[in-house]
Amino acid sequence: MSKNHAVQTPRAERWGSSLGVVLAVAGSAVGLGNFLRFPGQVVNHGGGAFMIPYVISLLIIALPISMTEWAMGRCGGRLGYHSPLGIYYAVSHKRTGWGICGGLAALAPFVINMYYIFVESWCLLYALQYLGGLLAPLGLSFSLFPHCEPGLYFTDASGYGEFFGSLVGISENGVLFRSFKSSPLILATLICAVANFALVYCGIAKGIERFCKIAAPLIILCSIIVIIRVVTLKNPTGAAGQSFLDGLGFMWNPTRDIIGENGEIIGRTNIWQALADPETWLAATAQIFFTVSICLGAISTYASYIKPKDDIALSSLTATSANEFCEVVIAGFMTIPPAIMFLGVQSASNLGSSFSLGFVVLPNVFGLMPFGQFFGFVFFSLLFLAAITSSMSLVQPTVALFQESFHWQRGSSVILAAFMNFIGSFIVCWYTQGLVALDVFDFWLANFTPIVFSIIQTSLIVFVWKLPALQAEIDSGARVRIPRLLGYVVKYVSFPYLVCIAVFWGVRNLGDRFNEIRSNHVAQLSLGFFVVLIVLLTLLSMIVMKRWEREEARHKAISGQTSQDQS
Ligand code: TRP
Repeated sequence: MSKNHAVQTPRAERWGSSLGVVLAVAGSAVGLGNFLRFPGQVVNHGGGAFMIPYVISLLIIALPISMTEWAMGRCGGRLGYHSPLGIYYAVSHKRTGWGICGGLAALAPFVINMYYIFVESWCLLYALQYLGGLLAPLGLSFSLFPHCEPGLYFTDASGYGEFFGSLVGISENGVLFRSFKSSPLILATLICAVANFALVYCGIAKGIERFCKIAAPLIILCSIIVIIRVVTLKNPTGAAGQSFLDGLGFMWNPTRDIIGENGEIIGRTNIWQALADPETWLAATAQIFFTVSICLGAISTYASYIKPKDDIALSSLTATSANEFCEVVIAGFMTIPPAIMFLGVQSASNLGSSFSLGFVVLPNVFGLMPFGQFFGFVFFSLLFLAAITSSMSLVQPTVALFQESFHWQRGSSVILAAFMNFIGSFIVCWYTQGLVALDVFDFWLANFTPIVFSIIQTSLIVFVWKLPALQAEIDSGARVRIPRLLGYVVKYVSFPYLVCIAVFWGVRNLGDRFNEIRSNHVAQLSLGFFVVLIVLLTLLSMIVMKRWEREEARHKAISGQTSQDQS
C-alpha cells in the first residue's frame, strides 16, 4: 500500500511519548462506565453471577479485540489516515463499502458524547454541591461559598432520589431551560462541552496527552482517598449492619442468600439459573464494549497517532489492564461494599436504573458516614475527571474525520464538531422527562452499535485484512511477543461469540424498542436525528473516498511522468 494520502495532509500529529498514548487510551477507557455503569450492572444482575460472563468477555473479547484495533489504527496512521473512515479504507485495501462502515464508526462515539457530557455535568454539579455545602451530611459541614446554606441532608434514599430527579429535570421536558438559577445543569453541561472541545482543540500531544498526564495521578489520588475511607468504615449498626466483606462477597460470590422482608434467609440464588439467562451475558458483553471503548473507532484513532515502529502489543495490554483495575478493583471497592454495608442488599440492589447507584444510593451512604461531605466531593470530582478524559476520545475520531475530509485545520474541525454536538446535547437536555431521550441515545449508541460494529470490525480484520497482515502489524516494534494464537482466537472464538450475542440480543431487545419508536415521539425524534447524521456521514464518506481515488490517480500520474522524464 502506498502512503498516498499523507501527501495531502498537513504535518502529521503524533503523541509525545509512549507513556502518553497509554495514558490517553487508558483515560479513554476509564470513565463513567467504570464508576457508574459497572457497579449498576453488577447489582442489577445479581452480583457475583454477573462476574463470570464479565471475566469471560474480558478474556475473549476485550483483550484480543483491543489489540487488533490498535494494530489497524497504527497501520492506518502509517499510511496517513487517522479517522475511522480512513483507517477502514486503508485496511480494507481501499474498498468503498468498508470505508463507509468506518465513517459510521466515527459517528457512534460522537453521538455517545452528546449525552455523555450531560451525565458528566451531573458529576460536576454534585462535586460542587458537596464543596459548596448544599449536600452537607453528618460530621463535617463546610461551605466554600459563603452565601450557601449548609445543607441538604436526607434520611433515606427516596429523599436523594427526589433531589436527583429535580436536579436533572425528570418531571417535565424543557424544565432545565426555564431558569438557570434554579437549574444550573445547562450551564454545567456547557462548561463540560467547552472544556472538552477546548482540550481537543489544543491537539493530540498538547491537549489530550497533556491533560491525561495531569488527570491520571489526580484520579489515582482521589481513588486512594475514597478507598481508604471505605475500607476503614466501621460496621454500621442498625437494620443493614453488614460488614465490608459482606459487600465484597456480594460482588464476588456467584451465589448468595436471598433475604426476606424481615431480614430472614428465605433461599439461595442459583448460579446455573443466572448463567442460563442470556440477559446476564448480554449485559456483561455490552459492559465490556463500553468500558474498554472498543469497536467504535476511538482506540484505532488514538493508535493512528503513534510512531510506525512504536510498540502496540504491550501498550494495548497495559491500557486494558489499567482500565480493568480501575473498574473491578477501584470502582468495585468504592461503590458496592459501602452501599451494602449501610443500606443492606435489599435497598442497595433496588436500583431501577444504573444511575441510581451513583446519584441516589451513594449520596445516601455519604450522608450516613462520618466526613461524608468531603468524600462525596472527592468521589464526584474523580468521576468528573475520568469523564473528561473519556469525552476527548469520543470526539477525536470525528474531528480527525473532518480534518481528513475537508483538509481543514484542527480549529475548524473542532468548531463544526462542537456545533453538531450542541444540537444532539440540546435534544438530550430538553427531553428530560423520565430521562427518555438519554435512555434512547444510550440504548442505540452504547448497546446496539457496539454489537453491530464489533462484528463489522472483526470481519474486516479477519476476512479482509487477514491474519498474517494482522500478526505482522502486531509483531512490528512489539516489546512482548504475542503468539499467533491471537488471530485464531479472534477468528474462531471471539467472532462466533459476537455473532451469538448479536442474535440473542436482537431477539430479546429489538421488538420492544421498535414498539417504543411507534408510540413515543421523543424516540422518533432521536432516531430521526440519528438517521439524518447517518445519511450525511455516508454521503461525506463517499465523496471523500472518491476524492482520495482521484488524488491517488493524479499522484501516480505525476510520479510516472517524473520517472519518465528522468529516464
Ligand atoms: N470507556 C468509557 C467509559 O467507560 C466510555 C467511552 C469513551 C467509550 N470512549 C469510548 C465508549 C468509545 C465507546 C467507544 O466511560
